[in-house]
Amino acid sequence: MTNKTLTLTDNDSGKTAELELLEGTHGPGCISLKNLYKDTGYFTYDPGYGMTGSCKSAITFIDGEEGILLHRGYPIDQLAEKSSYLEVCYLLLYGKLPDKSEFNTFSDTIKTHTMVHENIRDFISGFRYDAHPMAMLVGTVGALSSFYHDSLDINDPKHREISAHRLIAKLPTIASYCYRHHRGLPFMYPDNNLSYVENFLQLMFAVPAQDYQQSPVAAKALEVMLILHADHEQNASTSTVRLAGSSGANPFASIAAGVASLWGPAHGGANEAVINMLEAIEQSGETIETTIARAKDKNDPFRLMGFGHRVYKNFDPRAQIIAKLCHELLDDLEGDQPLFTLARELEEATLADEYFRERKLYPNVDFYSGIILRALDIPMNMFTVMFAMARTVGWISHWSEMHSDPEFRIGRPRQIYTGHSRRDYPG
Ligand code: CMC
Repeated sequence: MTNKTLTLTDNDSGKTAELELLEGTHGPGCISLKNLYKDTGYFTYDPGYGMTGSCKSAITFIDGEEGILLHRGYPIDQLAEKSSYLEVCYLLLYGKLPDKSEFNTFSDTIKTHTMVHENIRDFISGFRYDAHPMAMLVGTVGALSSFYHDSLDINDPKHREISAHRLIAKLPTIASYCYRHHRGLPFMYPDNNLSYVENFLQLMFAVPAQDYQQSPVAAKALEVMLILHADHEQNASTSTVRLAGSSGANPFASIAAGVASLWGPAHGGANEAVINMLEAIEQSGETIETTIARAKDKNDPFRLMGFGHRVYKNFDPRAQIIAKLCHELLDDLEGDQPLFTLARELEEATLADEYFRERKLYPNVDFYSGIILRALDIPMNMFTVMFAMARTVGWISHWSEMHSDPEFRIGRPRQIYTGHSRRDYPG
């Protein structure tokens, strides 16, 4: 809060509005529009909400110009290096790093919720064999609200907390079942002796007939991937969760809305789109030069997937971490990795290209995450599911924060109406 105001004058009517200026702990200030309509008769027009602050939040800070990403104040590179995904979950949910005993209690609580009701397994089995795992995920997360009636009072902080724990715990189980149904593999039960990430890997890849050998390199790569995708402030899917939840919708329905929003190629679907693009380039025999020329051609809808970001206009700090991880992982794996070589060439060519430099289009986190997931044997149609699993904690943290915000109201944007003026029905 500041004592500063901005005075807006309508030159035609002479009406003025005193707009309060608000400031957070970091980042640019905001103009409060609370009284704008009352004082001037105008709303604001901001397609894509790029200039609109929709809430106050203490969870994540991003400075897109400087390439900074902080969760509860901690830089993403430090969390990726020193923390674990479950610890980051605690941090996002509760606002502080846990001490040892808090972490153990949290971890045990999550473990008590890793199983799903047997009917959820039947529910997933009911999908067509060739259903996209994201289609199964969006349906199943929504369906959770029909199983856990005991904790759906959104006004009760304890209920909100139990729902958050359930979602964090069950997402790996559900995500793996979406994959295994697709492949015709039996569903594995969670193994609570394993870490969060190791448990997910066994849910995905173990078979009942033999022991499953964990790969520490794969587990480490996945742990970092999950940390990098855990939250990202008011992106499309998080804003969708807040908007859906603002009507009082239950947490499972609200998170299902977030999963749906994440599905699109401009958001969570980008890592799948990156691999599709790289494979298409490889198979068509197109060169890097012709690919870049297509991306720059305004008459061609083709865009370079994995490049550009709505907020990061310098570099994506997550991309820097993940690029390094990508090198380490691929060095550890045997054999030639032609897609990665192609990705590196494409990255280098764009960094040297005036069009991309001028528009500040740098590789984003998804440019590399697809390559890592592929190296971990995660099938391509599971990429966005992996993102959804990681982001669930971010979504539910924002949903919980919204419900404890005294200023929270139902979300309801306005419009500029461009349709017909009033007319009478004929006859
Ligand atoms: N390839 C070629 N040109 C591009 C690209 C691209 N990937 N991205 C933006 N541009 C151009 C765009 O044509 C425009 O050019 P001009 O100024 O000449 O009209 C300029 O750059 C600005 O683009 P914009 O569409 O106004 O930027 P935006 O902030 O609305 O869009 C974006 C951001 C991420 C949707 C977009 O960059 C894009 O479509 N990227 C590819 C998809 C992708 O990788 N998405 C993952 C985002 S990161 C994951 C996440 O956080 O969800």
